[in-house]
Amino acid sequence: MLRKIEAIIRSDSLEVVKEALRDIGVLGLNVFEVRGHGRQGGVPVSWRGISHTMDLIPKVQINVVLADQDLERTVDAITQAAKTGREGDGIIFISTIDDVVRVRTGERGAQAVTYIIDGPERNQRPPR
Ligand SMILES: Nc1ncnc2c1ncn2[C@@H]1O[C@H](COP(=O)(O)OP(=O)(O)OP(=O)(O)O)[C@@H](O)[C@H]1O
Ligand SMILES: [Mg+2]
Repeated sequence: MLRKIEAIIRSDSLEVVKEALRDIGVLGLNVFEVRGHGRQGGVPVSWRGISHTMDLIPKVQINVVLADQDLERTVDAITQAAKTGREGDGIIFISTIDDVVRVRTGERGAQAVTYIIDGPERNQRPPR
């Protein structure tokens, strides 16, 4: 089975989360800049002595599609790397993906997103 992680995290956490994902062998990901809010509805800000709520807070969203067997440790890695313990650390959505096709090879499904590589493709891991 194939799964998708959509992790919305603090922009400040992006580098350390990217590194944590690389450390566990996650190769494919997408990063988006997003704006949104969680259950606090935004953050209080004050400008020239006037306080109001910034309702849309800039965050970073990381999407990873992976095999079901890689899901839990990937969620754990993101959580550990992104957690400060303060409100706004983020949220992770997990869903099911129907299929994947790697264009170059025609590989389908889990084959197309398997991250633990023992063959020569290991050398294609991006440099640390
Ligand atoms: N239910 C949701 N649906 C879609 N996006 C969400 C949802 N909740 C949060 N987000 C997105 O995730 C970001 C981070 O949310 P945040 O960490 O504030 O979650 P929270 O549930 O309010 O937890 P906390 O109480 O720790 O702040 C938000 O800025 C928003 O972009
Ligand atoms: Mg919040």
